[in-house]
Amino acid sequence: MLMVTALSRPEAVTSVSAQEIDPPGGIEARIDDLIGRMTLEEKLGQLSMLDADYPSGELTDEQKQMVRDGVLGSTLNGRGAVATNEAQRIAVEESRLGIPLIFGFDVIHGYRTVFPMPLAEAATWSVRDARRSAAIAAKEARAAGVTWTFAPMVDITHDARWGRIVEGAGEDPFMGSAFSRARVKGFQGDDYSRPDRVAATAKHWVAYGGAEAGRDYNTVDTSERNLRELYFPPFKAAHDAGVDSFMTAFNEISGIPATANPFTLTEVLRDEWGEDGPVLSDYTAVAELRACPIPNVETDPGRGACGHAVAADGAEAARLALNAGTDIEMVSQLYRTHIPELLDQGLVTMERVDEAVRRVLRLKFRAGLFDDPYVDESKEGGVLLAPDHLAQARRIAARSMVLLENKNQVLPLSADLKRVAVVGPLANNQIDMIGTWTGDGKPEDVVPVLRGVEAALGDEANVSYAQGCDTECVSEDGFRAALQAARSAQATIVVVGEPAAWSGEASSRAEIDLPGRQIQLLKAIKKTGKPFVVVLMNGRPLDLNWLHNRAPAVVEAWYPGTQAGHAVADVLFGKVNPGGKLPVSFPRAVGQIPLYYNQKPTGRPPNPENKYTSQYLDVPVTPLYEFGYGLSYTDFEISNVRLSAPSISPGGSLTVSADVANIGSRSGDEVVQLYIHDKVASVTRPIAELRGFKRLNLDAGEEKTVTFSIDETDLAFWGQENTWVVEPGEFDVWVGDTSAVTEYPAEDDELHETFTLNN
Ligand code: BGC
Repeated sequence: MLMVTALSRPEAVTSVSAQEIDPPGGIEARIDDLIGRMTLEEKLGQLSMLDADYPSGELTDEQKQMVRDGVLGSTLNGRGAVATNEAQRIAVEESRLGIPLIFGFDVIHGYRTVFPMPLAEAATWSVRDARRSAAIAAKEARAAGVTWTFAPMVDITHDARWGRIVEGAGEDPFMGSAFSRARVKGFQGDDYSRPDRVAATAKHWVAYGGAEAGRDYNTVDTSERNLRELYFPPFKAAHDAGVDSFMTAFNEISGIPATANPFTLTEVLRDEWGEDGPVLSDYTAVAELRACPIPNVETDPGRGACGHAVAADGAEAARLALNAGTDIEMVSQLYRTHIPELLDQGLVTMERVDEAVRRVLRLKFRAGLFDDPYVDESKEGGVLLAPDHLAQARRIAARSMVLLENKNQVLPLSADLKRVAVVGPLANNQIDMIGTWTGDGKPEDVVPVLRGVEAALGDEANVSYAQGCDTECVSEDGFRAALQAARSAQATIVVVGEPAAWSGEASSRAEIDLPGRQIQLLKAIKKTGKPFVVVLMNGRPLDLNWLHNRAPAVVEAWYPGTQAGHAVADVLFGKVNPGGKLPVSFPRAVGQIPLYYNQKPTGRPPNPENKYTSQYLDVPVTPLYEFGYGLSYTDFEISNVRLSAPSISPGGSLTVSADVANIGSRSGDEVVQLYIHDKVASVTRPIAELRGFKRLNLDAGEEKTVTFSIDETDLAFWGQENTWVVEPGEFDVWVGDTSAVTEYPAEDDELHETFTLNN
């Protein structure tokens, strides 16, 4: 029997509360003073967030009056230096207590300069890039009066059907945590009162990515172990990085909706982690606790939202959400409507209301709004789309691209080509190329692929264009022009993929193939016999079987953002050697979903030689393209994996090193990945778990040594007794260029080592 050591829990509270350490006259004392002077209506106003007019970013007249009356604390979608200053002036100068507003907005992958979607950015495997793009997004957003972003979205998912997979960092909790930390630091810096930072929000708390069948908003039923090991870690990483707010998820978690869940909202977030910033509900999520139909929509409007049916009416919904730990109600107004009567009935306490208000005011103080509530209107224009922002957007987009296929080294294309055809529904399409959740990004700012290719080839080249079909591709009417363009070109660049609106919120798909007749378009182009390469733009893993077998070259470009066309051209013509790797598994068939690399072994591990093992009759169990996969225009060799010691003691650590050489003829980036596996444990463990990654650049012929450190927190898991444990014993460790390294046969032993964790 293995001895189990209780580990100091990664979730243990390490800090004392803000109130305990506040100096005299500090933020907490100022909050005490304010709360002491607030009426109940003013308190409930701080717990209300309303939706400003989306296109203009202005508050409505009714909202402005509420601000004047001191009964509206925050907005979403309110933005623009002039519009926010105007509303802020009302709050600060005309309301009784002068409490500033805070303006929240979904700054997900850029504000006006749009970066690649977060899933794409994860494909860079570069947390520095993520931090940098978040910092630029923060700078632009703050210049436009936005003080608070509803990002990072740190939901892990195993389901390519779920449209919101595009908003997160993919399938792995270790990687998700690294990107979560980086994005929080990028948005907030060390002090988000600065004029180039914003407060961040970790969302959606929690397990939203577990939606059954990948259908958005659907039921989630999961174990505490899965919560602790899979869904919580990126949120904990955000908390540790100083994130100052959380947003609830729309889903239920094993029967209790996330917006009324005392376990996640209070037991874990407050009592275990010591989080002291506010939790806001997602859009109308408080009202969605109600049963349908709503008994009296006149007196209990809540925007008409209902569904989970854990509350009979709006009053019960408000009680459940507030008491569980949801501090701010987004959009529906049940707190304002019902909390007074709930207080009278003794169903909620003033102490709980004050606690929620305190958290909101804390966020506003930390954002510097009490000291400097306005933004400098003269600066906004110069900050948005600043040249260095665009340069970073181009650089990061190119670094996020993953080379999936490159048969016979078709890519890179020669920059001396004189006749190139650019075809396909996304080739000259500024709307879809920036993706979903585009902040204040404008299609007219976007460089489409056609323009990027023209710029790369210069005036001497003849670049022809034909759309072929639109993104949904129901008609073949435009194919003829596309084929004509392909026939008269030396090379054709075909840009296919999904409309941006097919991923993101409420955009789940049951089939994950290329839309409509796009494959027919590709087949027809192939039939011309002329050279072609495929660029994909999509927000989820797609079924790429045809491309895998038949396309000479495939670049996964995701939705690259404002500088899409330049970034695609940089990769196609070899200015940038692609170094991205997949942060999600691409399945062979939609029926394999949920699919992820760090699966459990099962009692009957898959074995094609034995029917009675865990597998399919019709497709292999492996993905088409695995987590961590990606090609390059050069070749790398990883060798000589070695450990600093054969064993590790509790509290100690060891290092794992490997040599990486560029054995090809051009400079390039390799992402070196470290995986571990607990050989025997008292609860089943994944066949492999990522525990380190580094992206490095190597010139042709260059060799570098990469070193990772492993300590016992890397080996911990959620034990049988519902605490974090580490168990002595043997562990496998691999270093490679893909998650498939863990399946390499014994001859590739050079990439594998074992070590022991001592008692
Ligand atoms: C989304 C959130 C978003 C909110 C505000 C909701 O529909 O789920 O992620 O932050 O809207 O726009």
